[in-house]
Amino acid sequence: MAKAEGKKKGGTGRTKDDERAAAGRAKAGPSKRDLIAGLNEDLSWEFGAVIAYRLFASLCSGPYRQEMRQFFEAEIPDELQHTQFLADKIVALGGHPTTSVAPVEITTDNRRMFELSLKTERSAVRRYHERAAQADALGETGLRIQLENLIVDETTHAEEIERFLTNWKR
Ligand SMILES: [Fe+2]
Ligand SMILES: [Fe+2]
Repeated sequence: MAKAEGKKKGGTGRTKDDERAAAGRAKAGPSKRDLIAGLNEDLSWEFGAVIAYRLFASLCSGPYRQEMRQFFEAEIPDELQHTQFLADKIVALGGHPTTSVAPVEITTDNRRMFELSLKTERSAVRRYHERAAQADALGETGLRIQLENLIVDETTHAEEIERFLTNWKR
């Protein structure tokens, strides 16, 4: 019966064995390797954000094209700044910065561009919360504070995008 329980999947799709293993890891705390791997995941999403904003700026269309283009282009320097910070930090921690780019979803529909961007910004906020907790657990207080500043940036981006989507009639 205990064996069957180990294979049983819960609402999260994880077995009891997976959950026990995760709890064991959480107890031990994250390692520096986990932190570097997480920062590399973040870096791949930042590369993806640069590509998405560049292409949305070029693909947006219609009577408000100029405003939308300006908005998307204005995001690029912030995301590039994030790639710089992450790559520098990964090197400083003794890791190798990734060349991978997270999957980029592109559309020619203006509203969808903002919806996709909002999804990306919100997931960045979630990831940087996780990363700040990892940094904190490792005693990397400076990094934790810098990651919290990234949370500020990405939250501001998400709020700006929400303003575009508010009362957007099809
Ligand atoms: Fe970013
Ligand atoms: Fe952002």
